[in-house]
Amino acid sequence: MSAPKRTLLALVAGSIATSLLAFAEPHFRSVADAASEPMTNPQALKPVSEFGNIKDQNDRAVALFQEAGRVIQSPRCMNCHPATERPTQTDKMLPHQPLVIRGEGGVGAAGGLVCSTCHRETNFDAAGVPGNPKWSLAPSEMAWQEKSLGQICVQIKDKQRNGGKDIAELVKHMAEDELVGWGWNPGAGRMPAPGTQKQFGELIKAWADAGAACPKS
Ligand code: HEC
Ligand code: HEC
Repeated sequence: MSAPKRTLLALVAGSIATSLLAFAEPHFRSVADAASEPMTNPQALKPVSEFGNIKDQNDRAVALFQEAGRVIQSPRCMNCHPATERPTQTDKMLPHQPLVIRGEGGVGAAGGLVCSTCHRETNFDAAGVPGNPKWSLAPSEMAWQEKSLGQICVQIKDKQRNGGKDIAELVKHMAEDELVGWGWNPGAGRMPAPGTQKQFGELIKAWADAGAACPKS
């Protein structure tokens, strides 16, 4: 082969390699990234006391839910409450790589890839894989992506669509559930949800106590 042809070939091969890398990059974080220090979210949640001056009870409930909505609509929660059968991942909420689907009980397709193949008891920071013993996808009736905060609010109060929870059970789930709690302990390289789970639980409780009105949109 002539020298110019070899150069051309090398250039073509080089650019193919570069585009493959560019494709792979968003899906696989490097071990160096994953092993970095846990991140803290610089965004605080407003304490319940800051809503005390809103006299109208429904307005107060709406404002409290909007503040809690900063957690609910964070990628840490939304990635597991997708609109389709497939989870999303990263802050950009990209389709989960590799392709996995909800399946029976949200743990993956029978005969296909189940969540526990990769997601284990705890976060595995060395490979950037988040983990929790209960890791599974929220059922389709609990889908939040592509919905407004007002729609999510109405849905999570609806016993037909929230796993049969009354308002007290819903408050408890938000304040104490460990998959919800994972949102503040997502492992190295991931931005936790704003504030703390305790503050989030207090906002939701205050919302419920104020009559649990939902935002219009
Ligand atoms: C690993 C996946 C996963 C993550 C992450 C996750 N959830 Fe869920 N969520 C589920 C599953 C599974 C259920 C259904 C099981 C249940 O009700 O206990 C659920 C149910 C819920 C429910 C019950 C009512 C309803 O309509 O959805 C609420 C409320 C909820 N999640 C809130 C949150 C919040 C808030 C976060 C983020 C801080 C979060 N979840 C993060 C998987 C997840
Ligand atoms: C082949 C391995 C593998 C399987 C199987 C797998 N996952 Fe994942 N999952 C990963 C990896 C790796 C990441 C981290 C991606 C990143 O953050 O760059 C991830 C991230 C996620 C996230 C994003 C968490 C966040 O907010 O950053 C969700 C949600 C998720 N997986 C749900 C599931 C569910 C549900 C199943 C089963 C139906 C499942 N995964 C099966 C490897 C897997």
